[in-house]
Amino acid sequence: MTVSSIISQDKVRPILVTGGAGFIGTNFIFDWLKAEKAPIINLDKLTYAGNLDNFKTISSDSNLEFVHGDIGDAELVKAILERNKPQAILNFAAESHVDRSIHGPGDFIDTNVVGTFRLLECARDYWERLRGEEGREFRFLQISTDEVYGSLQPSQDASTEENAFVPNSPYAASKAAADHLVRAWHRTYGLPVLTTNCSNNYGPYQFPEKLIPLMISHALGGKQLPIYGDGLHSRDWLYVADHCSAVKTVLRGGRVGEVYNIGGRNEKTNKEVVLAICGVLDAEIPRADGKSYGEQIASVPDRPGHDRRYAMDASKIVSELGWAPQETFETGLRKTVRWYLSNHDWLAGIMSGSYRDWIQKNYGVR
Ligand code: NAD
Ligand code: DAU
Repeated sequence: MTVSSIISQDKVRPILVTGGAGFIGTNFIFDWLKAEKAPIINLDKLTYAGNLDNFKTISSDSNLEFVHGDIGDAELVKAILERNKPQAILNFAAESHVDRSIHGPGDFIDTNVVGTFRLLECARDYWERLRGEEGREFRFLQISTDEVYGSLQPSQDASTEENAFVPNSPYAASKAAADHLVRAWHRTYGLPVLTTNCSNNYGPYQFPEKLIPLMISHALGGKQLPIYGDGLHSRDWLYVADHCSAVKTVLRGGRVGEVYNIGGRNEKTNKEVVLAICGVLDAEIPRADGKSYGEQIASVPDRPGHDRRYAMDASKIVSELGWAPQETFETGLRKTVRWYLSNHDWLAGIMSGSYRDWIQKNYGVR
């Protein structure tokens, strides 16, 4: 196996990003390369959710190297670490869609639990052999989710880092398991880890299986807008660039071994979100018949075990590290809808492939 090495002109050691061809990883890579000197190695298995076309416009950037592979492939990961000596590993790689985890949980255990375990073991082996400043500066940052805290009652306060883990879907359980492993690798072996638990993201490059891009693409395609159950489940929405800035903030200043919640304080019911999307579309690209896209909304049977409410208390990262989100839900949503409208080819590329089978599997029976 040959793994090449990437070193910046300033000899700044690279970072290893896993799952960088997915939604948040792609946004993170663009954001990082705009401002930082350290090159990036992007290790991605290219599952249905990974898309290398995302990087078409920066394919000649010598600060970005792609390695096709699995975070669970210890031999490959060790070779990448040895050859490139990264200053940090940021683990974005995961199976990330709750509905898919209900239809087939196996991949979620393989990647989110076993894959993270193998990655941690490679990181430990590598870090234990680093000397001096290189060892002190190394970080393993686990990107996780608010879903580990389970569903909140309407009257409950937003989740803090002290909340117990009560995961309800196979996806959430697999992410919770990974978070526990990360914690244990710090407590037992001293690996310098950081964990971020973030609320629902939205923005450019999100795969159209998730609520916001699915509704945009269905609205434009003249299809029904399928709201699960009564539509009163609520999520705390954060524009993806704000998640990326939070991850960078934690990487730079987070205390080793600590967990940081990230959220936008933008709690909305699913109905509110879909109506807001329809409102932006009505203004940007009115329907030919003059009616609102809201006419396409349809109630469909609920998701099994559907968590009613997530909300994050992000006061720790705000007060300790000075992070603050830049977008409101309104500004972030407008940017998002406009991105999908001007990147029709990106969406069409996905809609023409095997994604059609998923739509039949998940929505055909609803
Ligand atoms: P995504 O599904 O869009 O992308 C996941 C990426 O990981 C894809 O590029 C895929 O090819 C890659 N991947 C999957 N299995 C892999 C493996 N075994 N080895 C290497 N690469 C693999 O996911 P996303 O929405 O970008 O989420 C990224 C991370 O952020 C995940 O860990 C997710 O749990 C977490 N997160 C997501 C959200 C959200 O709202 N999307 C919120 C909080 C946390
Ligand atoms: O909370 C963070 C999590 O947010 C991330 O960890 C996950 O990776 C990410 O997928 C997301 O999980 P959700 O299940 O909250 O996201 P999703 O976009 O699938 O659904 C958002 C809400 O919208 C949820 O209550 C289910 C509902 N929904 C979703 C779809 C796809 C619908 O009503 N209809 C739909 O067609």
